[in-house]
Amino acid sequence: MALREILTSEHPALRQKAKRVKKVDASLQKLIDDMIETMEDAPGQGLAAPQIGVGLRVIVIDAKPGVIEDEEKEEPVKLQLVNPEIIEKSGEQFGEEGCLSIPGYVGNVRRALNVTVKAWNRRGKEVKIKASHNLARALQHEIDHLDGILYTDLLEKPEDLFRLNKKGERIPVFEKQDSEKKQEPIPV
Ligand code: NI
Repeated sequence: MALREILTSEHPALRQKAKRVKKVDASLQKLIDDMIETMEDAPGQGLAAPQIGVGLRVIVIDAKPGVIEDEEKEEPVKLQLVNPEIIEKSGEQFGEEGCLSIPGYVGNVRRALNVTVKAWNRRGKEVKIKASHNLARALQHEIDHLDGILYTDLLEKPEDLFRLNKKGERIPVFEKQDSEKKQEPIPV
């Protein structure tokens, strides 16, 4: 396994449509292992292959389902998915997302509340995953990366984007923070 560099938002590789994986082999499994190591090191809830400059439809996820109130008690769900496709979606949720390719920012975006995803697992076996809440959000976010879409593309209004300061507080990007300060440019 090896740590890979995570590309950030100006990188053109993040804007390309990734290609379907045609066959499962050792190099694909090595890619998945590197992605897991890179995601865990960051740490992040998910990573898509284009974020490390590989234009293939592969995602990894390590995210709490978010379906029960006491988040502390939830075990994260770990997924390694090849050629994932959303085949059903329903409902709506509006909430916060961040992205390892847009460090230091979070934004509130609208997503489907429930999704069903069809994919291969790392051995090429077809799997179907039903998810809702946070896990559904993570799946939609990572699958968007495979089509060159970043969460900042989905912001309904600029005020939904926040910069994180050193204390982890959310500072609105598109509001003046004080009379001295100018508005910051959007990071993508
Ligand atoms: Ni992301």
